[in-house]
Amino acid sequence: MNRAVRYERFGGPDVLEVVEVDPREPGPGEVRVRVTAAGLNPVDYKIFGGAAASRYGATLPNGVGHDFAGIVDRAGEGVTRFSPGQRVYGGRRNEALADALIIDQDDLILPAPDGLETDAAAALAIGGRTACACVDALAITAEDTVLVSAAAGGVGVLASQLAVRRGAVVVGTASEANHEFLRELGIIPVAYGDGLADRVREAAPDGITAAIDTHGPETVDVALQLGLPLTRINTIAARGYRGAQGKGGPDASADDLASVAALVAADELVLPIDSVYPLERAAEAYEHLMAGHVRGKVIVAME
Ligand SMILES: NC(=O)c1ccc[n+]([C@@H]2O[C@H](COP(=O)([O-])OP(=O)(O)OC[C@H]3O[C@@H](n4cnc5c(N)ncnc54)[C@H](OP(=O)(O)O)[C@@H]3O)[C@@H](O)[C@H]2O)c1
Repeated sequence: MNRAVRYERFGGPDVLEVVEVDPREPGPGEVRVRVTAAGLNPVDYKIFGGAAASRYGATLPNGVGHDFAGIVDRAGEGVTRFSPGQRVYGGRRNEALADALIIDQDDLILPAPDGLETDAAAALAIGGRTACACVDALAITAEDTVLVSAAAGGVGVLASQLAVRRGAVVVGTASEANHEFLRELGIIPVAYGDGLADRVREAAPDGITAAIDTHGPETVDVALQLGLPLTRINTIAARGYRGAQGKGGPDASADDLASVAALVAADELVLPIDSVYPLERAAEAYEHLMAGHVRGKVIVAME
């Protein structure tokens, strides 16, 4: 028997249960992955909480999580891209928090590059693609000065560093506890909240040319207040707000994800692991994520 985190009614993390499930054999074109770690994302709790359930076609009962890392355990008939024993990572909606998952070889599953730690591999599928989509949506270059909100969060920490790598000046919002950390990444930290526009003006006296919002409406408001046109604002957390564009994870490709993974594996991008919880404490892991102040990613480890 395998363990899986599941729920029978929508609600807070207390609806999550670790149950025993029968491992299924992979069908044609499918691989079975022995999951070693899963990375948590806010969309997971928006789904099991019910708010995003219909958007993602979630029905009850359901499993939890998306981002995973693991080892190919069985390959179904006709599988050519993967073989047993291979280290992989990727995303499988509502199935990642489990000892094993089944995924089509043509879905979001990639070979893990050498040097990519398991926890980092488990933390990339949504954050890595979304960060790429954000910098690509605004075609960030060395000419830009970019405001990034929640710059130490799961998406923000990658989007900020990708913008820095393109030569942009990056001003990132965070609480004081993350300011030194952001400075070490080459990001100019500013506190979020009342007075943000003034702090951004002070941090970037020549003005900003783009804004990547990964937290909510405040950044869109401030970007407009600072004179940015809507075409220079991308939000993943306040989609449609005041007409800002909303390119996100689905707008990036598996190749984009592989490029981010290669940079993390080569220590050219920092992907901080905020905390690691065992599968039995998955509910607690989500409570921590939902409190809203993680640095990088929260991981659930199966071992
Ligand atoms: N559309 C898409 O494709 C897509 C993809 C991924 C994520 N998302 C959405 O984007 C959002 C961010 O996702 P994530 O994984 O990056 O979340 P996350 O890791 O949970 O974000 C945590 C970060 O938020 C910061 N934060 C807390 N309060 C803040 C405030 N008032 N203003 C600015 N920053 C604040 C925290 O900074 P401090 O600790 O310094 O306070 C922390 O570093 C979520 O709503 C998620 O659902 C959308």
